[in-house]
Amino acid sequence: MSSPQTIPEPPEFLGSSVRYSQSQLNLASQGGSLSSSAPISSSPSQGRMYGAEERLEPILIESSDQKSKEDFLLPAHYESCVKSILISHGQIIDRIQKLAYDIRKHYRGTTIHLLCVLKGGSAFFQDLQVCLRNFHNFTNQDYVPFTFDFIRAKSYDGTSSTGKVMVSGCDMEKLRGKDVLLVEDIVDTGTTMSMLVPLLVSHAPASVKVASLLEKRTPRSCGFKADFVGFSVPDEFVIGYCLDYNDAFRDMNHICVINDEGIEKFKDGVKKRIE
Ligand code: HPA
Ligand code: MG
Repeated sequence: MSSPQTIPEPPEFLGSSVRYSQSQLNLASQGGSLSSSAPISSSPSQGRMYGAEERLEPILIESSDQKSKEDFLLPAHYESCVKSILISHGQIIDRIQKLAYDIRKHYRGTTIHLLCVLKGGSAFFQDLQVCLRNFHNFTNQDYVPFTFDFIRAKSYDGTSSTGKVMVSGCDMEKLRGKDVLLVEDIVDTGTTMSMLVPLLVSHAPASVKVASLLEKRTPRSCGFKADFVGFSVPDEFVIGYCLDYNDAFRDMNHICVINDEGIEKFKDGVKKRIE
């Protein structure tokens, strides 16, 4: 009988590790003293200072990859609201396993501080940490593999040059010296991340990177690129796997494209009874 296998440590990662230079840190803190519950102005317009410079590219999902909703099981309460299935739950989980591997490989030998961006990032965060835990169950480490916290971030005033980001729920003083990995559901225009990352950097972490399950190919993008990305998706409004439309659809396993009926039905949010 063969003995139980241990999963070997991933080989040395050869990609880039972005640590911020003092000038970048100074730039990030030019907004003055930043408290975690107040709206904070940030100006990503000074060029793309943050985000991945080199990365493993995501899986490209084309519009033509949409699957008929007859082919997968959907919750009955949402079926009429879905145009198509863009990424099945199985595909999401398989992809997260690889992202977990890439992440662990990159942060070899260090504690990662996962910072889950609520609410959209919570399903991705949950499945990602299951994968990370599974790695660590089969390997010997002399460090704590990861710690985690949650953050809420909301951008408003739209454009990347005038935007503000409001953050809450995270004591940012605790980020000092940590290797922070933001865990996000989708980088769409990139506005929120392009303001959130410099804000976190201003609290003197060792590094800040972003893992996003999805990245949207949209002409409205401000150019922000996450470091670890699951899928590149077409410019459609996507729902499911914690991605919402007015808080609906978070409880659906697959990532789907919403239809007009879904938009109409949940335009005022989730009611006690679906009409
Ligand atoms: N779906 C849900 N939430 C989002 C999206 C989307 O396509 N883009 C930005 N937030
Ligand atoms: Mg999000």
